[in-house]
Amino acid sequence: MHVTSTAKEEKNPLNPRLPAFYFGADYNPEQWTPTFGYEDEQVWLEDLRLMKQAHVNVVTLGVFSWTSLQPDEQTFSFGWLDRIMDLLHEQGIFVCLATGTAALPAWAAVAYPEILPVDAQHVRRGYGERQNYCPTSPDFRRLARTQVERLAKRYCDHPALLLWHVSNEYCGGATDRGIPCHCERCQDRFRQWLRARYGSLDAVNRSWMTAFWNHIYTDWEQIRIPGPSTDRGIQGQMLDFSRFISDMYLECYLNEAEILRELTPTIPITTNMLGAYKPLDHSSWAPHLDIISWDSYPALTTHPAETAFLHTLMRGLKGGQPFILMEQTPSQVQWMAQNPLKRPGVMRLLSYQAIAHGANAVQYFQWRQSRGSAEMYHGALVSHAGHENTRVFREVTALGEELHALSNSAGQDLLDARVTARVALLFSWPNWWNVEFLPGPSDQIRYLDEILLYYRALWQAHITVDVVFPDADLSSYDLVIAPLLNMVSEQQGRSIEEYVKNGGIFVTSYFSGVVDENALAWLGGYPGPLRETLGIWVEEFDPLEPEMANTIIVPAGSRLPAGSYRCQRWCDLLHLEGAQALASFGEDFYVGQPAVTENQFGAGRAFYIATRPEEALIRALVALLDDELQLASPLEVPEKVEIIQRRGQTGTYTFVLNHTAEPVEVSLAQPMYNVLTKTTHEHTIQLAGNDVAILR
Ligand code: GLA
Ligand code: ZN
Repeated sequence: MHVTSTAKEEKNPLNPRLPAFYFGADYNPEQWTPTFGYEDEQVWLEDLRLMKQAHVNVVTLGVFSWTSLQPDEQTFSFGWLDRIMDLLHEQGIFVCLATGTAALPAWAAVAYPEILPVDAQHVRRGYGERQNYCPTSPDFRRLARTQVERLAKRYCDHPALLLWHVSNEYCGGATDRGIPCHCERCQDRFRQWLRARYGSLDAVNRSWMTAFWNHIYTDWEQIRIPGPSTDRGIQGQMLDFSRFISDMYLECYLNEAEILRELTPTIPITTNMLGAYKPLDHSSWAPHLDIISWDSYPALTTHPAETAFLHTLMRGLKGGQPFILMEQTPSQVQWMAQNPLKRPGVMRLLSYQAIAHGANAVQYFQWRQSRGSAEMYHGALVSHAGHENTRVFREVTALGEELHALSNSAGQDLLDARVTARVALLFSWPNWWNVEFLPGPSDQIRYLDEILLYYRALWQAHITVDVVFPDADLSSYDLVIAPLLNMVSEQQGRSIEEYVKNGGIFVTSYFSGVVDENALAWLGGYPGPLRETLGIWVEEFDPLEPEMANTIIVPAGSRLPAGSYRCQRWCDLLHLEGAQALASFGEDFYVGQPAVTENQFGAGRAFYIATRPEEALIRALVALLDDELQLASPLEVPEKVEIIQRRGQTGTYTFVLNHTAEPVEVSLAQPMYNVLTKTTHEHTIQLAGNDVAILR
């Protein structure tokens, strides 16, 4: 099972029951019941009053409520949930109902100890935390199904039910390989998974190159999940194990989603994703979700381009379809080493950044700050103070009011509006696993760093980007950038070749086109299936020590600005086979050899950057392409002011986001109407620090 979403999906996935921006939070009323020492409904009624005040229209209920709804295997008690669903409905508030299966009931762990995962030392983990189950456990899946079926049957006709929220952050809190369970059943499932992928043991042996170091398997039973002591052994096995983990969690999701699909066919289904989250190949999950939702937790120091990239990545999963910002903190988290507050205005700014990139929902974690336990110091809309007279509540309420007004004024047109991009950045989870789980040749390369190097340069040039995945149709883009595309299948190579032949511009960087989808080297010369398209042959590569560097010399007369640029981490030593050198290395024994190349191929061109240059060079390349293709937004703005457009049927909405604390002035080519302030600006618009405008 390995599906990738490529089609542009046109339909708006939001439930027509609520044609507005969703605004609300995770809500855990079960923490405020008589069981925990609170007077009946007193806190709840206060919650509802405050929700109305803040213009909340959606809450996510039941994320961690499994035991409170099913105190033991035979007993179900939906009383509190019935009551709160009704109360919310009376107030016109909709519910994103969670299946609640992210955290196990203690009784389940006692009754079925094999639900708990087994670590690489073959020790079964104890009960506690969340996502703490073996993903192949039939007992876990059966108990989850029972719970989901009960919920679906009980609430299928409830007028407050808007959306299903399956589990919560699958695999979350894990290492970058997920929570690999090494139990005998998972071992067995891994073998089954391999059988399905390869058909025969010979094919596995071939694909993993097991003849090396005498790892040849002569019986399926000999194959084991790789553990820490064997990690640097078989590359193909590591890669397949990552695919397997992602697929097993996807099966857990489907285990629940399929029931919901059957019992409540009109209610959209989602699970909250984690952005660029390494263990799960979100692109293979996306076709199984009706709408993408994700949790955004930038640190105070996170560059706005990085947050923008994650929104772009999430939007790309379903070909540009609007998505849900399922969680963000209104103020601070508690799980970073230090947890500074979002400065005044920043929460609003980041919320609009999500909307600008295609979100139709702004949700928070969480409504009321929990009184104790793991996240008691995590920000919430209603703090431990328990009332509305706080900075955070005021900021949230102001945004709630504004989004409410926006839903009424721009309405459906803005909700349906899409971000359209002429530039695509290619992102691949298997490629990520492959380059970072590689037994050499450098532990310095980080796929996400390479992606962000290019994304940031595009962002700084105010160029709107889509993220696409390896099997995507590239034909609608003028420019496709695929940094560090180490893994390229024959078919992907052909599709890139076609794209360039037909006039597309393609950019890739060092160590690309080196292996196929099974992590076997392309024979006959790198970059394998991209060699002709790029017009180069990479004979050797030189992965540098951390303190080493080289320079890239751009000569006078080149189309790039002449000068010397620093580069690090890696240098490819390549030959031109039709391409032209735009720049060359300035040092070492390969001084003078090509560092940046351009190849005219068919009606298009392909660029190769044979190293990791300082940002200035990537920005120069982006400027060159922008000059030719006119990619940047029409508004001239300072660098840290983000411009992004959503195009609707009747209007184009230009979001201007000031990511600085200083005021800025933006000149307008023609008069524009600010949908937020309801004012028309003739020649310029002034934005305060952290302020936002939506211009029509
Ligand atoms: C995640 C989880 C939430 C909560 C927040 C805290 O996003 O989904 O349950 O733990 O983190 O930031
Ligand atoms: Zn297991």
